[in-house]
This record gives sequence, C-alpha cells and structure tokens, in this order.
Amino acid sequence: MDVKSIIRLYWDKRSQTYGKNTYRSPDEAQHLWKGILKNAICTDERLRILDVGIGTGFLALLFSEMGHNVTGIDISKCMLSKTRCNADKMGLNVDLIHADAENLPVKDEYFDIVINRHLLWTIPNPGTAVNEWSRTVRTGGKIILIDGKWHDYAIDMRLRRFISKMLVFMTEKRDPRLFTSHYDSIKDRLQFFYGSTPDNVIDLFSKAGLKNISMNNLEELEKFETKNRPLAYRIANKPSLYLAIGEK
Ligand SMILES: C[S@@+](CC[C@H](N)C(=O)[O-])C[C@H]1O[C@@H](n2cnc3c(N)ncnc32)[C@H](O)[C@@H]1O
Repeated sequence: MDVKSIIRLYWDKRSQTYGKNTYRSPDEAQHLWKGILKNAICTDERLRILDVGIGTGFLALLFSEMGHNVTGIDISKCMLSKTRCNADKMGLNVDLIHADAENLPVKDEYFDIVINRHLLWTIPNPGTAVNEWSRTVRTGGKIILIDGKWHDYAIDMRLRRFISKMLVFMTEKRDPRLFTSHYDSIKDRLQFFYGSTPDNVIDLFSKAGLKNISMNNLEELEKFETKNRPLAYRIANKPSLYLAIGEK
C-alpha cells in the first residue's frame, strides 16, 4: 500500500475516537482558541477560510461560529463525516471536500486564509503542500500553520509516553497499537514525523515565497493545556506548540 493510503486508512479508523477527550473543560478551550484565531486573522471582516486536514472540525467550526465562510478538506472520508455530524449538531455550515493537502481541487487565489493544525508531521512532501496552500490564497492573504515538536526521545519522556498509552487504553479503550501499526512502516518517509520547529516552518514558508513570517509560541495555550488536558495526555509529551503565519 502507498503512503497516502496507509495514512487515509489510519485516520478513517481513528476518526471514531479523535478529539473526544482533548480537554477537561471544552468551553474554556474553545474560548481560548477563538482568541488565538482572532489574533491570527487580525480582522473582523467575514473571510473565506480553508482548513486543510480538518479532522473532526475543531478549528473550522470555531471559525464558522465566528461568522466566516469555511471550507474543510481531508484525506479521510470518515473524518469528513464526523465534521458534518458535528456541524449539523451545532447548526453550522461548512463546505467539505475529500482531497489531498498536496493537491487541492481549489481555484488559484480563492481563499483569504488557509489554515492547518497538527497536519505537517504527516505530510510526505511538505514543500509541495505549502506551495499548494500558497497557490489557493489570494495575494495579501495568509497561511496559518499550527504544529509542534512532538517527540522528545529522552528516556523519561519515553517512559511517560508508555504510561500514557496504558492510561488511554484503560480509560478510553483505545488501542495504542493502531497508531504504530500504521505509522511505523511509513515514518521514515515523513520529514516532520517527530515534529517541526519554528525554524523548519520559516524555511518552508520562505521557499514558497511567503512574506512577513511571524511566530507565536502559544504560551497561554500551553499553560492552559498543562492544567486542562486529561492526565493521560498531559504526561505524554510537551509538544512546544507554535503558530506560524506567512503572507502571500
Ligand atoms: C492530527 S489530525 C488533525 C485534525 C485537525 N486539524 C485538528 O487540529 O483537530 C490530522 C488530520 O489530517 C488529515 N490528513 C492527513 N494527511 C492528509 C492529507 N495528505 N491531505 C488531507 N488531509 C490529511 C487526517 O485525516 C486527519 O484528519
């Protein structure tokens, strides 16, 4: 099976549980994220926003609640069904497209903002993807990328991840082997599998010709997550999250 098919298969299966136990107080988390997104887009105007690798719609639904026109793309049809379901429950509208982040079926310069969160690590050709996102953003529009350095290979962190997997297994009945059975065979083909740093993204954005690149190290979010993530997630990793913005 090719890399993308393995990734698609994993996320189809993972869609059943993804995002369910991320925060102990989801309302507070949503409020915090809305503030982060509002600062990043820096306008009160109604925008056309594309969320690439939309997952179950966490960011896209916040943008929709904020009054924007939102489109979401995902390689997994099951993830898109989850987003549709979540949007319907909340009475929100999001256009959904089943497509690959590296090859978007979207007109040039159509969107004001292209955003993605926690996607870069699972993209086989990051340079191609960023060029593609840049193609679909209007001149003066922004690409926003949220990611982090996911895996610290120090011995204590490996031990913590092991305990975390056991806790997830016991509390959520989610088998940690699902991830390894899919990603172990392809991780060497994913440049940022272990995570990415702001410098990595500055490099990618510069090569795609983006300007006015800025970074936010999401300190407030990190403090919030330290208190509000369930124990199983809190002990697993300290991902050093960042939010990068590049302008076309
Ligand atoms: C870690 S989840 C993040 C979901 C969402 N962005 C969030 O922050 O909650 C990664 C998502 O990217 C999707 N994905 C992975 N590779 C993709 C690709 N090449 N094109 C489009 N979506 C992809 C997966 O199906 C999954 O929904």
